[in-house]
Amino acid sequence: MQPVPVLVTGASGFIGAHLVRALLAAGCRVDAVSRQAQTATSPNLRWWQADLAVAGEIERVLAGCAPEVVFHLASLVTGKRDLELVLPAFQANLESTVRLLAAASAAPSGCCRRVVVAGTMEEPDRNSVEAPGSPYAVAKAAAALYARFFHSLYATPVVMARIFMVYGPGQVDHTKLVPYSILRALRKEAPRLTSGTRPVDWIYIDDVIAGLLAAGEVAGIEGETFDLGSGELVTVRQIVEKICHALAAPPPEIGALADRPLEAVRRASIAKSISRLGWRPQVGLEEGLHRTIVGLRGELASGAHVVRS
Ligand SMILES: NC(=O)c1ccc[n+]([C@@H]2O[C@H](COP(=O)([O-])OP(=O)(O)OC[C@H]3O[C@@H](n4cnc5c(N)ncnc54)[C@H](OP(=O)(O)O)[C@@H]3O)[C@@H](O)[C@H]2O)c1
Repeated sequence: MQPVPVLVTGASGFIGAHLVRALLAAGCRVDAVSRQAQTATSPNLRWWQADLAVAGEIERVLAGCAPEVVFHLASLVTGKRDLELVLPAFQANLESTVRLLAAASAAPSGCCRRVVVAGTMEEPDRNSVEAPGSPYAVAKAAAALYARFFHSLYATPVVMARIFMVYGPGQVDHTKLVPYSILRALRKEAPRLTSGTRPVDWIYIDDVIAGLLAAGEVAGIEGETFDLGSGELVTVRQIVEKICHALAAPPPEIGALADRPLEAVRRASIAKSISRLGWRPQVGLEEGLHRTIVGLRGELASGAHVVRS
């Protein structure tokens, strides 16, 4: 990534924190958005406290920092199906994205010459007739549709990164499958699972960051969607068994939890990401899990592991 001024939303989150570190390492000046007050850890990092679902907030941020490239990662990320999540998921995932796209489209020339929007494997494939399976999935699917709409009608320089199931160090939400299972296995407790039969495309965090950086930089890809996944499927049960085996912990307790309804199976199509982005995943599952275990152990030892539900 060239050292250009960059804005990252969702910068306090799992992927956002890794991305900010990578951008700083590349010499970028980074403006970062969180709804919480944050402390800058680098002279090239400046935090903005803003709720992007609130009118006027993204305009205030863009006017203050005029980024060349925007990485929009802010999101309420949850696979829960509860009715109570429909409106919060709509606001955090769809309303915030539409506000950002509208503001970026109206920004003066030079500002927002590239907007990378984080999509998800939870969105149904473009030509699919199936309904999204959760409040998160439907809001993200609509946000992806808006991104294409803004590009088609207003020539907004949007690139969609459709991210598959990310794992790696720094995933502070301990309810997510990989950190949850590692934490249980470190205590020699069996992780409690659903049937575990869902096949999932797992992708290591460093590979996702490399794909996002390429999506922010490669010329002539506006309006395109790129899958960032491994292209391979491994079931929930298989990945947790690998974790338990690596940590000599009891095997997972299968069927302890109910399966979720409308669980989709999607495998990343990475041929286009390879040919157009020049990106391909580098870290295999065994190596990625090893790095994740080492990272989580380190976070626990240093007291840096923040438990968030
Ligand atoms: N992790 C995955 O496996 C995965 C898979 C596919 C796609 N993705 C996508 O990748 C992106 C990042 O995911 P992640 O796992 O890093 O999520 P995350 O750790 O939950 O971080 C997302 C951050 O967004 C911020 N946010 C939420 N609502 C906001 C709002 N209204 N205004 C401003 N900021 C808001 C929150 O930060 P504050 O609380 O500090 O405001 C939150 O920490 C998301 O768009 C997600 O859909 C992730």
